[in-house]
Amino acid sequence: MAFSRFARTLASLASKQTEPSCSIAQRAFATTTTVNGIPVEVHNESGSKRVVVTKSLPGDRWLQYLVKAGCRVEVCKHPDIILSNAIIKQLLGGKCDGVIGQLTEDWGSELFEALRQAGGKAYSNYAVGYNNVKVDEATKRGIPVGNTPGVLTETTAELAAALTLAAARRVPEADVFMRSGQYKGWLPTLFVGQLLQNKTVGIIGAGRIGAAYARMMVEGHKMNLVYYDPYPNKQLEEYIRLYGELLRHRGEPPVACRRVETVEEVLKEADVVSLHCNLDASTKHLINSQRLAIMKKDAVLVNAARGPCIDEAALVAHLKANPDFRCGLDVFEDEPAMKPGLADCPNAVIVPHIASASLWTRSGMATLAAANVAGVLSGYPVWNKQDILPFVEKPMTAVPAAAPSIVNAKELGLKMASD
Ligand code: DGY
Repeated sequence: MAFSRFARTLASLASKQTEPSCSIAQRAFATTTTVNGIPVEVHNESGSKRVVVTKSLPGDRWLQYLVKAGCRVEVCKHPDIILSNAIIKQLLGGKCDGVIGQLTEDWGSELFEALRQAGGKAYSNYAVGYNNVKVDEATKRGIPVGNTPGVLTETTAELAAALTLAAARRVPEADVFMRSGQYKGWLPTLFVGQLLQNKTVGIIGAGRIGAAYARMMVEGHKMNLVYYDPYPNKQLEEYIRLYGELLRHRGEPPVACRRVETVEEVLKEADVVSLHCNLDASTKHLINSQRLAIMKKDAVLVNAARGPCIDEAALVAHLKANPDFRCGLDVFEDEPAMKPGLADCPNAVIVPHIASASLWTRSGMATLAAANVAGVLSGYPVWNKQDILPFVEKPMTAVPAAAPSIVNAKELGLKMASD
């Protein structure tokens, strides 16, 4: 059976795309109405500040932040998965104090101008990444922009690790094989893949998520690490050095960590390469046909960062020409679309941008986004410290009076909590 037919079989099992639903507590107090013809779910109807949330969010702690700050919260229930600027502008209407928006939306001059005209004073992306936001357009209009760092790290790293293992050991191919009734008995040659133990993992971008992924692969599979990042990650290097010492002490082969000067060095040396860089002009098509060509023929390439970091058409050509090369992709260049041919490559593991999709993380992201908007609307200073757990885990009566993460705080001259 062709792989595309395998894939269709699987797709039919998960054919319905579902939106996260609100918790029971939330639903109990919500009413529904329409705003310029768009259905919205309303919470805390009598709140004096109007906050628009463009998609339903998991959990209900986020709502407590906004209610505590005196906000009327309107959650968009429009059926389109990706909202156009026209719909978002209708939603903002004539008065809107703050917005929680999504990474699928185009927050640039058009939307920030509409928000400013509606009296908006705060925007938060429901994401740590904000390449969908033109921050300077918000800054120009005096609008603070929030994001949600600190709660995605381990969850995203785990998914990158899952993609690595799934690709190296051909799990989705084998799963489809079973479901389609093709398994007739054990064979020495059936779905032979790559062993990771003691090989080399390469990461490009050694920030929080990259470092967490690296530790998982080094500790879990005793892999050596080679990494490229413009800045050294001394903590990660020290961690791996100590882990290597522990292994040596136990009479096992130690692991090593090396920072290199070029992306090429990582690509040539590593058996697994995982991308953990931000998307900007310098990282667009960071992985292109020339760079794919220098990777090992049976390497695994993983991307849970941003789709355009890989020239996806070049990757499809490379996967077709090199059947032992594998990739695990959470993100796509023209998301939600895939480049032609990708879905037919059995050596590609593909999932729909779910790297942050653990309940703890997605609820935490909602909490941070809401705390950003609520904090700004309450006139609180900006927290901007690495440790954001107090916002997520402390009782609501003891959470910091601050907006957890405002990316243009400095440009806007906002007061910092530590000032
Ligand atoms: C983010 O927050 O940037 C992630 O891509 C969402 O999964």
